[in-house]
Amino acid sequence: MISLDSIRQPVLKELDAYEAFLERQFTAEGDLLNEMLQHALSSRGKGVRPLLVALSAAMNARTAGASGGQRVSLAAMLVEMIHTASLIHDDVIDEADERRGRPSVNALWQSRKAVLLGDYILARNMAIGLESGQFDLVSHICGRMAALCEGELLQADCAAKQSMTRRTYLDIIYKKTAALLGVSASAGALAVGATRDRVTTMRRFGEALGMAFQIQDDILDYSPSAATGKPVGNDLREGKITLPLLLILDKADDKRRAELLARLKTCHQDEAAVEEMQRIVIDEGGLHEARAVMQGYVARAVQLLSEYDDSPYRTALVHLCTFVAERNK
Ligand code: FPP
Ligand code: MG
Repeated sequence: MISLDSIRQPVLKELDAYEAFLERQFTAEGDLLNEMLQHALSSRGKGVRPLLVALSAAMNARTAGASGGQRVSLAAMLVEMIHTASLIHDDVIDEADERRGRPSVNALWQSRKAVLLGDYILARNMAIGLESGQFDLVSHICGRMAALCEGELLQADCAAKQSMTRRTYLDIIYKKTAALLGVSASAGALAVGATRDRVTTMRRFGEALGMAFQIQDDILDYSPSAATGKPVGNDLREGKITLPLLLILDKADDKRRAELLARLKTCHQDEAAVEEMQRIVIDEGGLHEARAVMQGYVARAVQLLSEYDDSPYRTALVHLCTFVAERNK
């Protein structure tokens, strides 16, 4: 299994520069805000988005070393902090107590303060971006934040109505996850002055990778062996119909479909129903079929890299695609 550490190897210097930049820029006044911010910053997770920015910048730079500049650090910070804020808000919406094996912000400080921390991070992020004067990067990255909200709202509406189609599912995961990964990959290219065509290719690459990333996330929610730091089965408890269950519902006749939907409705309060639904999805091939859809997006992402010459950065991006498909955390 390819490790993220090995994928980071070609851009370690750039990632260190980004970490130092983030630490310098992201400070908070007041003990409580500072404590909350430190919790959020120290439980940031895998850092896939900054890694995408750095690898894309390095692969698209016209001269060696051109990818270590402040614009790359800024782009990496902007995408990562949008992601961080969105998960803080997401845990409030989902009433989740755990994130990455640690208590969520809402579990520690309650929802009303958690919402404010998310808002604060977004506001500071925007202010730092604007003060930098790098308006092309700020508008490229922050201009896509609305997509995340659209995806979340659509998801909440579908969960409430218990309705889902393949097209709507793909629309949701495109907006809530793939759009920001597309922005991350393309921002790396933009930061080093790549051509408009190359910026577009990187956006498409990041989006295909993002679709695969979210489908794998949805598969891991059904996988007892996953090490995501989140309890498995949460999607069922929240009434979410994600791809593994959707594929089973699509194959079912009307009677069976009604039965499954009735059982899904009870999952928020009945652990036995959660286990039963997990078993049905696994036994009837939902994970297997969802994996095939995910692999299609991975193949598309890898294909988009073929217009680039071979380099350690391109190899690392190909490995990132494999990592996303095989990850268990
Ligand atoms: C995780 O999904 C959530 C997202 C990828 C997006 C969350 C977006 C918002 C809450 C909208 C607000 C946006 C901003 C910019 C503040 P999940 O619940 O399926 O995954 P999980 O299992 O990791 O919680
Ligand atoms: Mg969630």
